[in-house]
Amino acid sequence: MSERRLDIALPFVALNHKANLDWEGVRVLFEGISAEAATFPGTIVICPSMPFLSESQRKIKSSGLNVALGAQDISQFTTGARTGEVAAEQLKGLAKYAIIGHSERRSLFDEGDDVLTAKVKNAQEAGLEVIFCVRGSEDRIPAGVKIVAYEPVSAIGTGNADTPESAASVAKVIKENRDYIILYGGSVNAENVKSFIEAGLDGVLIGGASLKAETLVPILRSIG
Ligand code: PGA
Repeated sequence: MSERRLDIALPFVALNHKANLDWEGVRVLFEGISAEAATFPGTIVICPSMPFLSESQRKIKSSGLNVALGAQDISQFTTGARTGEVAAEQLKGLAKYAIIGHSERRSLFDEGDDVLTAKVKNAQEAGLEVIFCVRGSEDRIPAGVKIVAYEPVSAIGTGNADTPESAASVAKVIKENRDYIILYGGSVNAENVKSFIEAGLDGVLIGGASLKAETLVPILRSIG
């Protein structure tokens, strides 16, 4: 049974491709998940690499895929002379969501509270819904964010997922401030995904297992 909160259908499943796959890989993934996505009661958001957003949008529209699009990041700046950047405003009408604050951005690019707050503001002004990542309950969440992804660094890409009990207790602390939609991320797979939803998480943010239909479809099936 599908539940809706903050007008979003749950469970919420966000796919973070990072700097992986070429267009052919993304296209094959779409083909591979379309049947499962069609009957999925929640929300599926695919966040491919930036160059594939336009083609993904065309594909979603032409084949009626039940998937929304998200950007993996946006610039802290608005449009203008910012070589190499993608401003939130440029994603209007293309992406519905934007991941901000992923721990890889925080560590590899030194993004701290000021930068992340600017990004969230830009996203909101462009009408993008933010999926804001935190490493734990101590990370600051900018105003206006509705969806938070709790991703302990030790669990990302390691095969060493947090326990559902621990993730649920962190989610509880985060929710003391606001009734966020809370996702868990970090080594989510078909074997463990259901336990996070059963523990009370509203959804998951999936990296490695989101790259292939063979690993993604069993995840969707398990919580669909
Ligand atoms: P993982 O990545 O599923 O490969 O651990 C999750 C993430 O970094 O969002």
